[in-house]
Amino acid sequence: MRLVTSPAEIKEITKTYRLGGLTVGLVPTMGWFHDGHLSLMRMAREKADKLIVSLFVNPIQFGPNEDLDSYPYDLERDRRLAKGEGVDILFAPERQAMYPEDFGSTVSVAELTAHLCGRTRPGHFDGVTTVVAKLFNLTLPHFAVFGEKDFQQLAVIRKMVRDLDFPVEIVGHPIVREKSGLAMSSRNTYLKESEMDAALSLSRGIQKARKFVSERSAEVIHAAQVRNLVHKVISPHRECEIDYINVVNNTTLEDCDEITENSLLVLAVKINNRIRLIDNSILKGS
Ligand code: PAF
Repeated sequence: MRLVTSPAEIKEITKTYRLGGLTVGLVPTMGWFHDGHLSLMRMAREKADKLIVSLFVNPIQFGPNEDLDSYPYDLERDRRLAKGEGVDILFAPERQAMYPEDFGSTVSVAELTAHLCGRTRPGHFDGVTTVVAKLFNLTLPHFAVFGEKDFQQLAVIRKMVRDLDFPVEIVGHPIVREKSGLAMSSRNTYLKESEMDAALSLSRGIQKARKFVSERSAEVIHAAQVRNLVHKVISPHRECEIDYINVVNNTTLEDCDEITENSLLVLAVKINNRIRLIDNSILKGS
């Protein structure tokens, strides 16, 4: 596996891959790999002749009071893990190389970014779409794999690709969970043992909601019933500050009134005002 830090060099390499007729896959990450990231790499490895993983803690997607400075980072550890998954190139550029002094462009997707995480994290999705557009242009992938835990990010990137005609197939990978049910995230590393029960209330809420829906397959179920049920699971934990508990259409992310096959339960909760956790699940079916 090669470690590449220069944007100019990765451009040259991927140009050669494309000219050679090779299928290029990209897994964009901010590092501190966990099993979730490794499963994205495994999925991409199956489809790609050449697999590129980018590792870049993208400063422009963090708000002023967010965890940019404390975001976990260990290049050597991640390098070893990526190598173990048969990655061809780990692309880990410096901030200055991605955003030189005179950098002045933003890629912005309207509407889809205005609510849910976009409401509490203004500017976050502009940061994501700008860096992902840059990564696509630098690595020229045929396809890119993103985790479904960041459901809004995935919807926003799909929209960007459609609107701007990026010739890249966007592949979603199902959420990978700990045995406890906790959705894997690099930010789980901030959780103290004493906060685990509160953190697990998200996946418990999801399980309860799914059970509630599956036991009423012949009835009309209103989103409000599901939201109330999940609220009752999460709110007793005093560590939890609920950002949102919503039921949305899994493509448009618009609020649903009634539960259908396309209804996605989406949750964002801040634990002890330090750790923002998100989780989601389709309510009907697997
Ligand atoms: O999901 C992430 O890790 C990041 O938002 C991404 C897509 C790598 C962009 O920085």
